[in-house]
Amino acid sequence: MSNSIQSVLVETRVFPPPEEFVKQANVSGKEQYQALLDESDRDPEAFWARMANEHLHWKKPFTQVLDESNPPFYRWFADGELNVSANCLESNIERGLGDKVAIIFESDDGKVTSITYHELFVKVCEIANGLRSLGYKSGDRAIVYLPMSIEAVACMQACARLGIIHSVVFGGFSAKSLHERIVDVGATLVITADEQMRGGKAIALKSAVDDAIGMGQCEGVRHCVVYQRTSGKIAWTERRDVWLHDLVKDQPGLCEPVAVNAEHPLFILYTSGSTGKPKGVQHSSAGYLLWAKMTMEWTFDAKDDDVFWCTADVGWVTGHTYITYGPLAAGMTQVVFEGVPTYPNAGRFWEMIQRHKVTTFYTAPTAIRSLIKASEADERYHPKSFDLSSLRLLGSVGEPINPQAWVWYYTQVGQERCPVVDTWWQTETGGHMITPLPGVTPMKPGSCTTRLPGISAAIVDEVGGDVASGQGGFLVIKRPWPSMIRTIWGDPERFKKSYFPEELKGYYLAGDGAQCDEDDCFWIMGRIDDVLNVSGHRLGTMEVESSLVSHELVAEAAVVGRPDATTGEAVVAFVVLKRSAPQGDEAVEIAKELRNWVAKEIGPIAKPKEIRFGDNLPKTRSGKIMRRLLRIVAKNEEVTQDVSTLENPAILEQLTKAV
Ligand code: PRX
Repeated sequence: MSNSIQSVLVETRVFPPPEEFVKQANVSGKEQYQALLDESDRDPEAFWARMANEHLHWKKPFTQVLDESNPPFYRWFADGELNVSANCLESNIERGLGDKVAIIFESDDGKVTSITYHELFVKVCEIANGLRSLGYKSGDRAIVYLPMSIEAVACMQACARLGIIHSVVFGGFSAKSLHERIVDVGATLVITADEQMRGGKAIALKSAVDDAIGMGQCEGVRHCVVYQRTSGKIAWTERRDVWLHDLVKDQPGLCEPVAVNAEHPLFILYTSGSTGKPKGVQHSSAGYLLWAKMTMEWTFDAKDDDVFWCTADVGWVTGHTYITYGPLAAGMTQVVFEGVPTYPNAGRFWEMIQRHKVTTFYTAPTAIRSLIKASEADERYHPKSFDLSSLRLLGSVGEPINPQAWVWYYTQVGQERCPVVDTWWQTETGGHMITPLPGVTPMKPGSCTTRLPGISAAIVDEVGGDVASGQGGFLVIKRPWPSMIRTIWGDPERFKKSYFPEELKGYYLAGDGAQCDEDDCFWIMGRIDDVLNVSGHRLGTMEVESSLVSHELVAEAAVVGRPDATTGEAVVAFVVLKRSAPQGDEAVEIAKELRNWVAKEIGPIAKPKEIRFGDNLPKTRSGKIMRRLLRIVAKNEEVTQDVSTLENPAILEQLTKAV
């Protein structure tokens, strides 16, 4: 069990929502929350129909709310039609927000550019018209491999405007990961930049696209549209490569939005599962957007004069829902940031909150923990050295937040004035599922607290039976909800098997272990599958293992997670080479080479923190690797269990030695 989970289990403090906040909240007080819960539990379809009519602009109204005829392939509002981009742009311009700032963009080196809703509308239309002029249309798939920028948001919106299904690949992923996604999604278009800037360094993007396409099976890619970010030198393939600025030149600033079916896929986003191959999580248009917008209003208490800042990258689901779609659908002003929290120094986040008068700040526990460390080392980077009085709400996402970090965030950043919403959700859920409502829920550090209205989250045992409070079990969602994953792109069987196992009565299985306390608050205990959570990013142990064994020196590898004070979990790899285990300097050298290899194969986030070599791995007599033991060894703890079932007990001793 990780240290953070142990500390969560002994946490008993409760912080009521600040009174001043409650008074003005969109959902204010327990009664209003209870009324929504009751309404959604009593007649879920009527509840969702009311929400979908109130929150979305429909081109063609829906008549059926939920189609359950082919579970678990649920369809929501399926005969309705709308356009997601029009719901983010025209809808706000029509309400008189055309001159309101939509995005304040701050680059890595501190340059600030803003764009109003009307200007963003024109930009999105020009890009959409450009893409249309190249022949792209509804249903085509585009890979988006861009740095954080106004252009990244605009390109995603332009795809949505035409019904092109985007699949964003995080800029930190390697050419090989990019290749895998281009092939799996059957992309005909790639949108990228020459380079991206992170922490003062230029990192090539276009060359990774060239490499990916060069790996073969990408004949379908007709164009690579390139946003010029740095003017760094890049290779150019005539006819295929097109500069974004050339593409939009002379394009009209008006592009009629294509009305798509409510169930039309808006995007596919790859995430790690328990096998080696990432899953293409497919989301819908209407149901997804509905929840993105509703959770902006509920969880983030969106108000017209807010300045919202979600620090995620658009390469992850958080950046999709709470940068590209939610804040725009809600008509908010938001900050989009290109850089990293520690450049040019660890005061960057606080300085930006001060500069842009951010009211609502949403980040990950791993960032909070690293900034706590930095502020302890140097007072200049402590939040108290900045004017953070604009803040009124704080959010956390991606992994359990340990109570110490929670309390620091609440007291040092929020000055006990700002509620902290610890939001539990997943790539597959589309938006927040379990979270405090800032004007309602008493907060418990380390708990994501209660389910949102409409979300039937529960803890069950292995046959789907409810478990009593205080007992651990599987976190499930009992009834379908509009923003849920629709399928795994190209693999409906895997979708069924992964998320709706037969034993669980048709419930959605989240893959997290959790327990509920007597106040119906959820406490997440971590993944129940072979998925790690490193710095809030999901990583399959099998993915890392298969990349290690693809190295010519490696015969076998097993990867486990180890609790880590900064990144939540860290990757530890046990490796058997095709020759005997290396020692001393040679072991250090090979470990370094393998770490770089994984970074190149998957991306730097997958780099093992530690590699240990052995002549074998601990296996049962039937040949199964005993990961349970490896997790203990990785933590440098003594193995006290009976190891007599091991085929080769002596191996444990060899593996306890770190390189
Ligand atoms: O284990 C849970 C953890 O992150 C997983 C989902 O990862 P991903 O799909 O990459 O989405 C991350 C951003 C939504 C979950 O299965 N997780 C996410 N948020 C929390 C969390 N664990 C505890 N508390 C959270 N607030």
